[in-house]
Amino acid sequence: MSASVRGDLVRRVAVAAIELDEPIPLDAVPTPALLLDEAALDRNLVRMADHLSSKRKLARPHAKTHKCPIIARRQIEAGAVGICAAKTSEAMVMRGAGIDEVLITSPIVDTARAELIADMVAEGPGLMVVIDSVLGVECLERALADRGASMTVLIDLDPRMGRTGVRELEDARRLAARISASSVLNLAGVQHYCGHVMHVQGHGERSAQSTAHWQRAFTVIDALRADGHAIDVVSGGGTGTYDIDCEFDPITDLQVGSYALMDEQYRVIGSKTSAVLDEFEVALTVVTTAISQPAAGAITVDCGFKGFASESIAPVAPEYAGATYRFAGDEHGVLVLANGAQSPLIGDRVEFITPHCDPTVNLYDHYFVHRDGRVHALWPIAARGCSW
Ligand SMILES: Cc1ncc(COP(=O)(O)O)c(C=O)c1O
Repeated sequence: MSASVRGDLVRRVAVAAIELDEPIPLDAVPTPALLLDEAALDRNLVRMADHLSSKRKLARPHAKTHKCPIIARRQIEAGAVGICAAKTSEAMVMRGAGIDEVLITSPIVDTARAELIADMVAEGPGLMVVIDSVLGVECLERALADRGASMTVLIDLDPRMGRTGVRELEDARRLAARISASSVLNLAGVQHYCGHVMHVQGHGERSAQSTAHWQRAFTVIDALRADGHAIDVVSGGGTGTYDIDCEFDPITDLQVGSYALMDEQYRVIGSKTSAVLDEFEVALTVVTTAISQPAAGAITVDCGFKGFASESIAPVAPEYAGATYRFAGDEHGVLVLANGAQSPLIGDRVEFITPHCDPTVNLYDHYFVHRDGRVHALWPIAARGCSW
């Protein structure tokens, strides 16, 4: 399937909220389902917005976490300068929903994607993309020139993570010179996202590691400025370093993502003042049903690999202290209860904090959005599957 056919499909995706005529109780939602606590979400958005503005930083929240234009719109309304999208298709969904200021945070290197990006640029301003190769520059240049368009780009710097980005100072200087020589690309700054630092246990250690990586990035930024480039945007940082990176002067905006929904992987890293990162509330849960009892002290719920995504950590059921969840296949999981603890009965609902929110969200079509104990709307996870 060509990228343009995939692009047409993305453009047709539903983005509007489905409001229920009659709100329904939480226990009427068919399981497994993603529950979104709207009040907790709003508090998280306000808390981060207030924090960043008090530090004179901009918010450029990452929409890869929620993949939902309705939440992206709320982040803009809370003061964000724009949002991030991980990939071209995710950006297409957000732009299609009327969110103009979007930074694509993964480099592209092919003509098909460059053309989709150039089409979006031709439709209106606000789109930026990161670049880390001359191939990426050349693809974008051709696609933009064909449409008589131009766009702003950031150089992606690799914080020694070994994923994307320019690693060496001289490579950054060469790429900046190449972009500056382009008649259709405008270099506005850099991206530097330390993904490998976000989940470092303990605030002190996280702070030390983030500081070391950023100091190296600042050397690169100084050199680019000395070469005459205007580095106006210095974008990076995430939920794990939201209160660390905002102390560095050169950083202009933070790309925080998970704070909006939260997950167990983030809770366990700890905060400056607590063993648990609890400054943002768990707004997202997965509700399941206990459907069978394989043994005393264990209960099977109707949610497995197709309902929870995790690299390592398990979902957590806060109502059952000390219980551990283990995956028991695609559709099932087993909650093993602490010795002597009360088990859910067959038919009971069991709610879980997700292990890792971003890929878990990507498994579902909608959020069941609740307020005051009742679900009043379904919000489409419109960019679900938009990982290209
Ligand atoms: C480039 C980039 N920026 C920002 C984020 C958001 O980070 P977090 O969810 O840790 O806040 C991510 C997440 O993976 C990312 O890849």
